[in-house]
Amino acid sequence: MTTGDLHLPTVIGHRGAVGHAPENTLAGIRKAATLGVTWVEFDVALTKDGEPVLLHDETVDRTTDRKGKLADLTLAEIRTLDAGTWFSGDFAGERIPTLDEAIAELESLGLNANVEIKPTSGREADTGRVVAERVAAHWPQDRPPPLFSSFQPDALAAARRAAPEIPRGLLLRRPSRGWRQWAEDLACWSIHCNHRNLDRRTAEQVLKAGYHLLAYTVNDAGRAERLFNWGVEAVFSDYPDRILAM
Ligand code: G3P
Ligand code: MG
Repeated sequence: MTTGDLHLPTVIGHRGAVGHAPENTLAGIRKAATLGVTWVEFDVALTKDGEPVLLHDETVDRTTDRKGKLADLTLAEIRTLDAGTWFSGDFAGERIPTLDEAIAELESLGLNANVEIKPTSGREADTGRVVAERVAAHWPQDRPPPLFSSFQPDALAAARRAAPEIPRGLLLRRPSRGWRQWAEDLACWSIHCNHRNLDRRTAEQVLKAGYHLLAYTVNDAGRAERLFNWGVEAVFSDYPDRILAM
């Protein structure tokens, strides 16, 4: 498992394939596979008792049938929530998966992943460390490594300490002045930028500095084509099928 083995696809299913299935669930990861993607992205945060699980928000309000902060809920409590019905009755009973379950699902489907470390407030370093330890321990050794990413430099720094061999991407809403220093300090492999704040000149700067460039969240094939022309290597999409059909 070395960075040299890592090859990005053109499209990465966003939160699984959230245009088609509930985000950050095993059903979403399976759906992405049926659409033909080889990589998915998902968000990981810690429960109250420190278990890494797939969730985007600080709370479970938007994507489950209950309310509350993830940091106040134990894994046992999280396991009772329905994470599918909010999206569609077809997914009733879908659970919030643990990171371990997601890794097992990826292995059985032959998919790779961008694991976005999404700490709840104040748990940046803990989340980075736990996610990295878990991935290092459970990721199949005969497969290319996954790619970590985070908006939180402290989380990436902790992931680097725990599993320096797993590559890191710095997530940016917009490339502000400090990005180069952060990327250098964290020995990042890639920059993941909101495509709305990306232009040709900025893309060139990122590539010239030696980083792989990824853009989120791109649901329009024409926009994806323009980004690829600027040197963006991979786009995250809620509808990866639209990009694959290009
Ligand atoms: O990792 C790309 C993208 O997922 C970042 O934004 O808010 O969807 O996690 P968000
Ligand atoms: Mg994300």
